Amino acid sequence: MPTKILLQLDGDLQPSVFDAVVAVDAGVEQLFRHGGITPDNVRELVHGAMFTRGPDDLRHTAIFVGGSDASLAEKIYDTVRACFFGPLRVSVMLDPNGANTTAAAAVLAAERHLALDESTAVVFGATGPVGSRVVRLLARAGCAVRVVSRDLGRAERIVEQTQAAVPEAGLSAHAVPPEEALPSVLEGSQFVVAAGAPKVQLLSRQQWQSVSGLQVAIDLNAVPPLGIEGIEVTDKAASRGEVTCYGAIGVGGTKMKIHRAALQTLFTASDRLLDAEEIFAIGQDLK
Ligand SMILES: NC(=O)c1ccc[n+]([C@@H]2O[C@H](COP(=O)([O-])OP(=O)(O)OC[C@H]3O[C@@H](n4cnc5c(N)ncnc54)[C@H](OP(=O)(O)O)[C@@H]3O)[C@@H](O)[C@H]2O)c1
Repeated sequence: MPTKILLQLDGDLQPSVFDAVVAVDAGVEQLFRHGGITPDNVRELVHGAMFTRGPDDLRHTAIFVGGSDASLAEKIYDTVRACFFGPLRVSVMLDPNGANTTAAAAVLAAERHLALDESTAVVFGATGPVGSRVVRLLARAGCAVRVVSRDLGRAERIVEQTQAAVPEAGLSAHAVPPEEALPSVLEGSQFVVAAGAPKVQLLSRQQWQSVSGLQVAIDLNAVPPLGIEGIEVTDKAASRGEVTCYGAIGVGGTKMKIHRAALQTLFTASDRLLDAEEIFAIGQDLK
């Protein structure tokens, strides 16, 4: 059996050690790590991966695209895919800074408690790599989504991008309202996600606990102060009043399982392309 080789392509100068460790834990036997990757310098590396082994053995070579700049990683991912032709291709996974695996884990957590296609979600920090993918996955699941940003224009751009990907999506854009009016954006929703930057509190305890009908709250920020006051970082389906709560570590265990399973899926064929939706589907199969 040919050795399982993973090419780790990272837009950051130093390729992520986190992603490297997960690759080894997922069973990768040879890990080639490359940092400082751009769409302009990636082709030679991809050719090295796709022109070396025969088509029958190419499923033992795969590519992981990561890095802290999600839009750069998306461009690298597009360029990598454009290098392939005919049977000369290898499987590729996109997960910049864990955005796809984290969003998938958050939506899977909510799905355990809610019929998403009958629910309304409010996503704070929706313009970031994680939040924007949470919005997309929820929209695909038929959930109505309120997209919240500090800046209405940024929220509107996420709505437009998501609507282009999921034309049937029910989306609305919202600027973070003044503190006293914050509960209004939550009114009538069943699910809230805080996907804001670390160390930023987005909702106080009083703001979300006063919302009637709220069923699930997920906070992805692991660094105090947490995004949703009153949720513990380790919460995993913890009941707080009427609301089922998850904190970043509570979601993180599922995220790690999804990340490893997605890497393993890469080596089952030479034509797997794993973006948020495919990674979410892998998570659903883990249940
Ligand atoms: N649990 C896990 O396994 C896991 C894995 C990966 C990431 N995470 C966490 O998930 C969260 C989202 O990650 P990300 O990479 O998408 O985050 P990010 O890009 O750093 O921030 C997300 C959004 O937060 C908003 N924001 C930034 N600074 C803010 C401030 N000072 N006040 C209010 N809002 C602010 C911004 O939206 P606007 O400017 O549009 O308001 C930004 O787009 C982070 O807390 C990250 O640490 C968790």
